[in-house]
Amino acid sequence: MKRILAASLVVVLLLAAAVVLLNLRDEEPIDASSQPSAPASAEQIARGAYLAQAGSCMGCHTARGGAAYAGGRGLPTPFGTVYASNLTPDVQTGIGSWSRAHFWRALHNGRSRDGRLLYPAFPYTNYTSVTREDADALYAYLMSLAPVVQENRKQELRFPFNQQAALAVWRALYFRPGQYKPDAARSAEWNRGAYLVGGLGHCNACHASRNVLGAVRDPLDFNGGLIPVQNWYAPSLQSPEEASVADWDREQVITLLRAGVSQHASVMGPMAEVVRRSTQYLSEPDLRAMANFLQSLPLAHREKPPAVAQTPASAARGERLYGQHCARCHGEQGEGAPGAYPALAGNRAVTLDPPANLVHVVLAGGFPPATTGNPRPFGMPPFANDLNDEDIAAVLSYIRHSWGNQGVAVSVLEVNRYRRAAWP
Ligand code: HEC
Ligand code: HEC
Ligand code: HEC
Repeated sequence: MKRILAASLVVVLLLAAAVVLLNLRDEEPIDASSQPSAPASAEQIARGAYLAQAGSCMGCHTARGGAAYAGGRGLPTPFGTVYASNLTPDVQTGIGSWSRAHFWRALHNGRSRDGRLLYPAFPYTNYTSVTREDADALYAYLMSLAPVVQENRKQELRFPFNQQAALAVWRALYFRPGQYKPDAARSAEWNRGAYLVGGLGHCNACHASRNVLGAVRDPLDFNGGLIPVQNWYAPSLQSPEEASVADWDREQVITLLRAGVSQHASVMGPMAEVVRRSTQYLSEPDLRAMANFLQSLPLAHREKPPAVAQTPASAARGERLYGQHCARCHGEQGEGAPGAYPALAGNRAVTLDPPANLVHVVLAGGFPPATTGNPRPFGMPPFANDLNDEDIAAVLSYIRHSWGNQGVAVSVLEVNRYRRAAWP
């Protein structure tokens, strides 16, 4: 008995040591006297400002109605709420006392100034691939902002997810620090695209599925995933049935990222935020590079669930509601109006499974982002007050079965589930 106990203790200690070591991978020691670094050049600051847009840093690090970059915005996760930190150079409450080395360690290793392991709601699992030079430019930019005094909010995670030891185990399993390694067999443009999409762009923080512990297992997975809590579905960028852009004209991919609308698609929900805060500001060569990379992703066909027919009663109801509420914009035959209203006929977004995004857009309406390429976008009104769950199931099932669309009927239960996710 004693032997077994002793043996178990040794195993536990070895595992703990392994977890600690794995958490220190690729970490450089920081000199305790490390001070904030000397002022940077205007050029480096401008470069940092651009990279902060490429990384959407401001979106998460700004509370609604709060000062830019002063933190306090809560990000809901299945494990509790994580609040983003104050990134302004206030010495007490922001990163004013951080050196470049501290900042690099946060981005590259996911560790705060005081050594605390950071929650991966901060997408350092992607940002770890950012180069030291780019991290230094980001630091220079943030240090150039006006300091804002705003205490960081305490994280509200449930036990055991609020324990550093649990996070250490998670990181040992799912986090590998490492910089982007260019693929010599590919062009410089492709490598630039892969660097931006996989790193600062953190596209697969949404466009990949997460396991029960919230981890994306494969950095090259762009095969779609339901965003936890928000319940928006980020479609597969590898599947021709969902959102692969492999066979688009490259200019259309660039237009979608820059303007939020293209001949084939119109962004909404969380993707509208990505375009609004990030991609619309990126340079032509960077967008071209991202498009190049996105178009080269290996295709992965999605098996469509077998088509489920709509009952005749629901179809009649759907057709009536469509004529009453939707046809004036989307057209009698779902043909849409180019430049204003997306076509619903032959639109992949309409037959997507799960139908989460459709329920969201009908309930809450939506606007594509206002961008230079599309300064006054046409919007869609919310129908949450006019249509009940049966109505929405009927009209969505109708558009998924009309004009050549071959989708699965949407059930009242599904509408109800996503309605509760949107208005908890
Ligand atoms: C998806 C939301 C999100 C985005 C995008 C994001 N962050 Fe954060 N960030 C967070 C959250 C949440 C935390 C707090 C994590 C914690 O306290 O464990 C955080 C923490 C940090 C920290 C550590 C601060 C501290 O006091 O320990 C730094 C540094 C940071 N982020 C920099 C950045 C930079 C630079 C970018 C853009 C390249 C960025 N973040 C983009 C959510 C985000
Ligand atoms: C915060 C989550 C999130 C991030 C980050 C994100 N996406 Fe999306 N994306 C979505 C969602 C949700 C949709 C589905 C809604 C829509 O069609 O606009 C989507 C849709 C798309 C589409 C299909 C558009 C359409 O309407 O057919 C493309 C292409 C796309 N994303 C590319 C990207 C790229 C490239 C990046 C990185 C720069 C990115 N996404 C980052 C959530 C995200
Ligand atoms: C006033 C015009 C208008 C009306 C009425 C309207 N829509 Fe829309 N719809 C739009 C616009 C504009 C968008 C693009 C929204 C965005 O990108 O955020 C849109 C987007 C959509 C989408 C997503 C398409 C895509 O490519 O992602 C669906 C599905 C949809 N509408 C269905 C409906 C249904 C069903 C109704 C009736 C219940 C309806 N719409 C009524 C203007 C309208």
